[in-house]
Amino acid sequence: MNLATPASLYAQRRAQLAALIGAKGLAIIPTAPEQPRNRDNDFLYRHDSYFYYLTGFTEPKAWLVITGDGQTTLFCAPKDMEREIWDGYRLGPVAAPAQLGVDAAFSVADLDAQMPALLDGRDAVWYPFATHKGLETRVDGWLSGVRGRVRLGALCPEQQRDLCGPLDEMRLFKDAHEQAIMRRAAQISAGAHIRAMQLSARMLRDGQDVREYHLDAELLHEFRRHGSQYPAYGSIVAAGANACVLHYRADAGAVRDGQLVLIDAGCELDGYASDITRTFPANGQFTGPQRTLYDLVLASQEAAIAATRAGARFNDPHEATVKVLAQGLLDLGLLDKNKVGTLEDVIEKRAYSAFYMHRTGHWLGMDVHDCGSYIEPSEIDRVSERKDPVSGATVKDRPSRILKPGMVLTIEPGLYVRPAAGVPEQFHNIGIRIEDDAIVTQAGCELISRGVPVKADEIEALMRG
Ligand code: GLY
Ligand code: MN
Ligand code: MN
Repeated sequence: MNLATPASLYAQRRAQLAALIGAKGLAIIPTAPEQPRNRDNDFLYRHDSYFYYLTGFTEPKAWLVITGDGQTTLFCAPKDMEREIWDGYRLGPVAAPAQLGVDAAFSVADLDAQMPALLDGRDAVWYPFATHKGLETRVDGWLSGVRGRVRLGALCPEQQRDLCGPLDEMRLFKDAHEQAIMRRAAQISAGAHIRAMQLSARMLRDGQDVREYHLDAELLHEFRRHGSQYPAYGSIVAAGANACVLHYRADAGAVRDGQLVLIDAGCELDGYASDITRTFPANGQFTGPQRTLYDLVLASQEAAIAATRAGARFNDPHEATVKVLAQGLLDLGLLDKNKVGTLEDVIEKRAYSAFYMHRTGHWLGMDVHDCGSYIEPSEIDRVSERKDPVSGATVKDRPSRILKPGMVLTIEPGLYVRPAAGVPEQFHNIGIRIEDDAIVTQAGCELISRGVPVKADEIEALMRG
């Protein structure tokens, strides 16, 4: 399958969005700003996901305007030979309509002058709320431009609406092209995890000083070798006790014989993220206690996978995970029955949260923590209140989202054991997470990240190779 998304698909998405904002609506979608890193040096540029979803255009300094009647206007950086010598090729507004299928294109320098005229006569202006710093102020400025002409017959929009609502809902369901790109991204990332595992065992066998950055370099090499543009998020490569720090980054920590290594890393390919975690013994051989906890996390992931299918709720895999982990924590003596009570008590009081403090998954797509409501839209009014047993805070519960084919989510249970009184010493400083990416199907889910194995025996076998 050709993974390049055809221009017609972006046009289809723009038409679908136009239909959602009403005939007299107008939508404004800026791409991401360039971000200064230090002095005159920018961070590597990454487009805005909403903007890319609707255009496939990756240049900075661009805006898309869509009206409810389906007219699309692009504002982009103008051709500039001098700048192009330094910064690279620009598409420019003359070539944009043929290339991107938009109806009209102008220089971004014309944006402020043109927006009031485009807004005149519209009933609502839609833009993504709370996503682009300063956007509300820009829109205010354009609206005052329209208001300044009311005595000349201009008609100012009366409503401002959040474009994230309709766009998030569209992006939540991945079409065949998106699924194909995500399968490929996950396949590349799986290969990278295998390489990192094998490098760790090989270097230790050779008596070398292994560092977390050696494994990180291996991941990056494999991502880029297959055309991925960059990691989808900051890679976590955590040896030993570092694995208990949830947002640890690949650093200079020593990777030692007898330790576990937790790698949470995925590439971004053509705008789509993958997100895989594997935990493996640095030398290729699990110790007894490591294997015990590993098999428990894996069993909890299997329960979550079995609970992931169309018709189930987003929370079901999490609840399935918690049940298995909580029982395991009681069986292994990490939770003391005499103090915490029965399995039901552990779940109700969230006593497991000392060892498992995050959720079991999230939507995955253009963004690693992708957009999309986690609440079932048809049940938003079914609100109940409860006191969180750990923090004591009052939390509002709403029915969680009913899964449908084409949604993509991660399934990522873990256990993180910090040394503490009453916790068996053999488990101290072990941090384990197993994370896979799943496309929801009618009958269950398709795991697209299993190019790297999860079974302890299979990991040991590939690390011997
Ligand atoms: N790597 C981010 C996450 O697993 O959610
Ligand atoms: Mn994740
Ligand atoms: Mn992850």
